[in-house]
Amino acid sequence: MNEHKSVLLEESLHFLDIKPGGRYIDATVGAGGHTTKILEEGGEVLGLDQDPTSLDLAERRLHACPGKYRLVLANFGKLDAVARETSWDQPDGILFDLGFASFQIDNPERGLSFLREGPLDMRLDPDLGVTAADLVNSLPEKELTKLFQEYGQEPRARLVARRIVEERGTKPFTTTTDLADLVKRLTCNVSRIHPATRVFQALRIAVNMELENLEEALPKAFELIKSGGRIVVITFHSGEDRIVKHFFERKEKEGEAKRLTKKPVVPSVEEVKNNPRSRSAKLRVLEKS
Ligand SMILES: C[S@@+](CC[C@H](N)C(=O)[O-])C[C@H]1O[C@@H](n2cnc3c(N)ncnc32)[C@H](O)[C@@H]1O
Repeated sequence: MNEHKSVLLEESLHFLDIKPGGRYIDATVGAGGHTTKILEEGGEVLGLDQDPTSLDLAERRLHACPGKYRLVLANFGKLDAVARETSWDQPDGILFDLGFASFQIDNPERGLSFLREGPLDMRLDPDLGVTAADLVNSLPEKELTKLFQEYGQEPRARLVARRIVEERGTKPFTTTTDLADLVKRLTCNVSRIHPATRVFQALRIAVNMELENLEEALPKAFELIKSGGRIVVITFHSGEDRIVKHFFERKEKEGEAKRLTKKPVVPSVEEVKNNPRSRSAKLRVLEKS
C-alpha cells in the first residue's frame, strides 16, 4: 500500500504560522502528516477523523510526542462540540485537508477505487448507513442523473443513469468493477483520465455528504478560532472549493476576516509530478479579525 503523501504541506504550514505552544485543530488528521509537522514546529494538536483506520495510523505515527496531541473519532461537522468537550476552544488555527487518503483508496474493501475490485461501498465513516451500492441500486434515474451532473460534472450523466437503471433491473450492482465496467462500455475513451472517474467522485461525495459537512463545519471553525487565528482549507474538487471561496468572501465582506489568498494556492509542477493526486488541490486561507 502506498504511503499517503501530504499535499501542499509546506504551504499549509506556512499559512498556519505555527507558534511554539500554540493550539491547532487538524480537522482531517488522516495518517497524521500535517499534524506531525505542526508538532515538530512546537504546536499542540487536536486531531479529528471520521475513519478509525486513519486514527490508528495517526496514533502510531504520533505517539513519540505524548501530551502534545489529542485524537478524536468524529466528523468535523461536530467540530464545535468536540472542541468544547476537549477544552480546545480558541485555537490559533484550523486545518482542513479534505477528501480521502491514499491508504483509503488503495484498500479495495473500501470500494473507493474503480481500479480495484471490491464492494461498492465508499463510506469513509464505517458507521454511515448508506453505501454507494444503495444509491446506485435505488435512486430514480432522474436523481442519479442530477447526482452525476452536480457532483461529478459528468457529461454523459443521463446516459450512465439510464443504463444503470436498465442493468440493475436484471442484476443489482454490488462491486466497484460492475459499475466501472458499465461506464467504460459507454465511452470511447481518448482522455488520460479513467472514464469512471467522475461517476465514482460523484457517488463518494454523496455517500459521505462531503458538501453538507463542509457547509456545517466552516461557520463552526470560524466561531471557534481566536482573533488573528487562521483557517486553512485544501480542497480537491470544484464543489468543495466553491463553498470555501464563497464563505471566505462573505466573511471578508462582512468585515470579520481577511482572505490571505485572493487566488488559491496550487501545488508546484514538481509536487504534481511526485504526487499526481495533488493535481486538483487548491489551498485557501482566512484570518479572523
Ligand atoms: C486527505 S486525508 C488527510 C491527510 C492528512 N492531512 C495527512 O497529511 O496525513 C483526509 C482525511 O480526512 C478524513 N475526513 C474526510 N471527511 C471528513 C469529515 N467530514 N470529518 C472527519 N474526517 C474526515 C478522511 O477520513 C481522511 O482520513
